[in-house]
Amino acid sequence: MKKAFITGINGQTGSYLAEYLLEKGYEVHGLLRRSSIIKTERIDKIFDKIKTYYGDVTDSLNLLNLIKKINPDEIYNLAAQSHVKVSFESPEYTSNADALGTLRLLEIINSLNKKIKFYQASTSELFGNSPSPQNENTKFEPRSPYAVSKLYSYWITRNYREAYNLFAVNGILFNHEGPRRGETFISRKVTRWCANWKKNNQIKPLEVGNINSIRDWTDARDMVKAIYLMMNYKSPEDFVVGSSVGRSVKQLIEIAFEHVGINLKWNELKTEGTDLKTNKIVVKVSDKYFRPLEVNKLIADPSKANKLLNWSPQISFEKMIQEMIDSDLNNLKNEIK
Ligand code: GDD
Repeated sequence: MKKAFITGINGQTGSYLAEYLLEKGYEVHGLLRRSSIIKTERIDKIFDKIKTYYGDVTDSLNLLNLIKKINPDEIYNLAAQSHVKVSFESPEYTSNADALGTLRLLEIINSLNKKIKFYQASTSELFGNSPSPQNENTKFEPRSPYAVSKLYSYWITRNYREAYNLFAVNGILFNHEGPRRGETFISRKVTRWCANWKKNNQIKPLEVGNINSIRDWTDARDMVKAIYLMMNYKSPEDFVVGSSVGRSVKQLIEIAFEHVGINLKWNELKTEGTDLKTNKIVVKVSDKYFRPLEVNKLIADPSKANKLLNWSPQISFEKMIQEMIDSDLNNLKNEIK
């Protein structure tokens, strides 16, 4: 039985990955960051099948002791301060966790057991405003403390792979979403609003930032399969993973709104959108949600993953959004009980 250690196991991707690895027969261990509020909701369903430990990727000794004790075959480094806008407000913590956290893990692998395979959660944010579609050969131009930290992690992973012959890979994943997505990322913010609106349409308009940026959104459950495939590929290589379809935030809002029966009409400046049926303002653009620098257009060219891993996403964008709205509606119903 293979043993996996997942940092960030209670995050969206960590929780889906844990489920997937359990299905594949793994023994799954995971790192949780302590908080006074219980945040294990995403792994509650599998809690008695996995082992969790408190710790933090900013704490070397904690990582060393845990890895010694668990003795894993594979480490998946998903722990991070993963919010791009927050990284401008908390750049030092972001760098410590998202950049040095990776170094700590690699250094432990290298000194303890070189056979441990390592997955690094790299990101399409590395590309910044490099022309799309982006693939493994596209130039990196990080545009946030988050992306700069992740760039360090990308290179240190490659560096340890090349210098010490480790099986260490970067999954350069484009945006991934689903019902378990954190509530402050745009997809979930929109689907939660839609669920609230469906239940009680007297709510305040949805306030968002830049609606012109383009992202390639894929279901997180599809992404987890790609992670598994690259860790089981014959050689350690980096892969770009995404759907290859780009949509703007504006389109995301329009599609989600349509699912709850809102036909949007934007004003000329596209700063406000009205529900055609009721004439109510339902969406507003607000400075509050703009970032000091924006990444304009991220669209994956996943040809390498398609070809070598035989991977392509199975869940459509529309289905994912519908499922997210349904799940948010369900959460609201449960709250009422
Ligand atoms: N969060 C948020 N909230 N984003 C908004 C809003 C808003 O109210 N309004 C507009 N946006 C725009 C952002 O400016 C960005 O262009 C886009 O929506 C997507 O924002 P997020 O959902 O926060 O994701 P992200 O693209 O910045 O980063 C996510 O994907 C990366 C992979 O490309 C995160 O999951 C990162 O951790 C991940 O690396």
